[in-house]
Amino acid sequence: MQVEQATAMAERLKLLTQTGPDTDMGRLLRKFWQPVAVSQDLQAGTARPLRVMGEDLTLYKDLSGTYGLVDRHCPHRRADTSYGFVEACGLRCNYHGWLFDQTGRCLEAPYEDAAAPQAQSIQNQCTRRRSRKCRARCRWRR
Ligand code: FES
Repeated sequence: MQVEQATAMAERLKLLTQTGPDTDMGRLLRKFWQPVAVSQDLQAGTARPLRVMGEDLTLYKDLSGTYGLVDRHCPHRRADTSYGFVEACGLRCNYHGWLFDQTGRCLEAPYEDAAAPQAQSIQNQCTRRRSRKCRARCRWRR
């Protein structure tokens, strides 16, 4: 009987503490705003890596003051976006120079634009967008 109770308790704890995107608790928590950083900790023109509910993300503030929260890995060749160059309007990947805006949309793909201007694939290479909001000097994501 004690083994069954311990097993049931372990299952309940797992249900409550696993918050990745493919878990029950992760799906529930993603319905609500979550604080991810304090605004004053991020200066314009900087980016920093974050791990939130099992996901690797990059938070940045571009030179116009807009915050962005995008996947940590570039959709092109998976480079670490936290090492990217923060520009006037967005974050540029440091590997091949693709530029993404705060919604994760690819704005520029140097060389790709010149080599294959007819290709539409660039339009589909968006990082997953993250909703973000500033409340009481904290960064939030949903
Ligand atoms: S890996 Fe980011 S642009 Fe190529």
